[in-house]
Amino acid sequence: MSKVALTELPAWQALKQHHEAIASLHLRDLFDQDAERGARFALDALGIYFDYSKHRITSETIDLLLQLAEQSELRARIAAMFAGEKINITENRAVLHTALRAPRDATILVDGENVVPGVHEVLDRMADFCERVRSGAWTGFSGKPIRAVVNIGIGGSDLGPVMAYEALKFYSQRDLQCRFVSNVDGTDFVEATHDLDPAETLFIIASKTFTTQETMTNAQSARRWFLANGGNEDAIAKHFVAVSTNAGEVAKFGIDTANMFGFWDWVGGRYSMESAIGLSTMLAIGSDNFRAMLAGFHAMDEHFRTTPFAQNLPVLMGLLGLWYADFFGAETVAVLPYDQYLRRFPAYLQQLTMESNGKYITLDGARVNYQTGAIFWGEPGTNGQHSFYQLIHQGTKLIPCDFIAFAQTLNPLGDHHDLLMSNVFAQTEALAFGKTQAAVEAEGTPAWLAPHRVFEGNRPTTTLLADKLTPAMLGKLVALYEHMVFTQSVVWQIDAFDQWGVELGKVLAKRVAAALNGDGDLSGYDSSSAALIARYRELRTHKNP
Ligand code: F6P
Repeated sequence: MSKVALTELPAWQALKQHHEAIASLHLRDLFDQDAERGARFALDALGIYFDYSKHRITSETIDLLLQLAEQSELRARIAAMFAGEKINITENRAVLHTALRAPRDATILVDGENVVPGVHEVLDRMADFCERVRSGAWTGFSGKPIRAVVNIGIGGSDLGPVMAYEALKFYSQRDLQCRFVSNVDGTDFVEATHDLDPAETLFIIASKTFTTQETMTNAQSARRWFLANGGNEDAIAKHFVAVSTNAGEVAKFGIDTANMFGFWDWVGGRYSMESAIGLSTMLAIGSDNFRAMLAGFHAMDEHFRTTPFAQNLPVLMGLLGLWYADFFGAETVAVLPYDQYLRRFPAYLQQLTMESNGKYITLDGARVNYQTGAIFWGEPGTNGQHSFYQLIHQGTKLIPCDFIAFAQTLNPLGDHHDLLMSNVFAQTEALAFGKTQAAVEAEGTPAWLAPHRVFEGNRPTTTLLADKLTPAMLGKLVALYEHMVFTQSVVWQIDAFDQWGVELGKVLAKRVAAALNGDGDLSGYDSSSAALIARYRELRTHKNP
């Protein structure tokens, strides 16, 4: 398929000119000129108050961005995704994470087959399994109930589960702890298991492909650890379950496929936390809470699918991100959750956003001549304020920020929550409006010091304010970012659902791993790599068996 190049679209051209006209406008002036601006650029949807008034935009900016979405045929692409068309063109796959949270009576066809009954069948099996583990009915080899769940997986088979476990800990069964092993660095496995009793431990081997080097290495170590610490082959079925699309490899590993929870090739790894990959989440919070989370996802799916673009949260968020990336040259986005439970949310978003939109080739196979995916990063507030916010306030880089906050805390403690929230509002105010030279001088600051104490302001922020962090709200937030990513990918004309860029390193690592163990010739390597491998061979003391 051949499309008009993005930079040739009339709306893109108009945005370029518009940017020149308004780039120097200051948020101070924009707010001064329009007493209603705070309400004009805010939306209330699905329990999320979405304030985008502190962006360097006018009504015309939004109009032009919405035209860009129309000219990019976003509406048709959204419909194609929800309908199960094979929009992941480089892998010839449908993209249907939305089917994972569709209600039982929905119909979604892939190659003529309704996939929804299969989704619910797996959910029901998961619910039954989780109930047995949580109640203590599922016992380990010594008859004791399971008290520790270790999820072994990496990338999408880790980041979503960890993030959700942390985010929803308040709702979790506290006598059942979850741990996560992802890194092939043995330290990860050793530290995660050193104080666990194998008789009370359940391993979930989570891997879409069941061939990922890190996960398979950790899974083999888990099996050895289990057998060396009182377990036996017959008991493996009680202590190891798998989550995968690859039944053949699961069986080869020695896990009974009766204890396997499946999903499908139309679920991308980074879009899979609400599939069976979320088994650890369901074990932690129970199936009712898990289904509430799915309902939250689904509500945002419907909002994205049906709401006019001007009131559509993911669409607006996506377009605003694009405005800074492509017209202001911003390279990063900071995600700043003012909720300790969301401490892993930025890390989760890194894979979702960067593995999806870190592409420089368009769907037509051409090299882009504009910026695509931004670098996402962040830490929970208020900690970030005491480390990197200095650069956001007074550095030379423009860093749009997403502030995420909740009106009600799950852990009321004195006036902690009011103090936390006062920081949210104060930071976005300071970033937008800054502090002028005149204001600094009026405080009696000596002339030589004044420039250091001036805050330019004009730093853009979005504030997402919801009532409370619940399983449903988490689902809505994740789906919001998923669809934001899709929106951007459509405008950028890239495939948000493949990840070819991770392949080369994997292939080379296999070759290097073979070279590390021998003393063979290194002449096939470049001089830097050969020297590093040679030095490693010299210095390593432990030889692999
Ligand atoms: O290497 C990247 C990647 O393919 C991710 O996209 C994926 O989430 C991760 O590896 C893990 O893959 P799997 O679930 O197949 O082990």
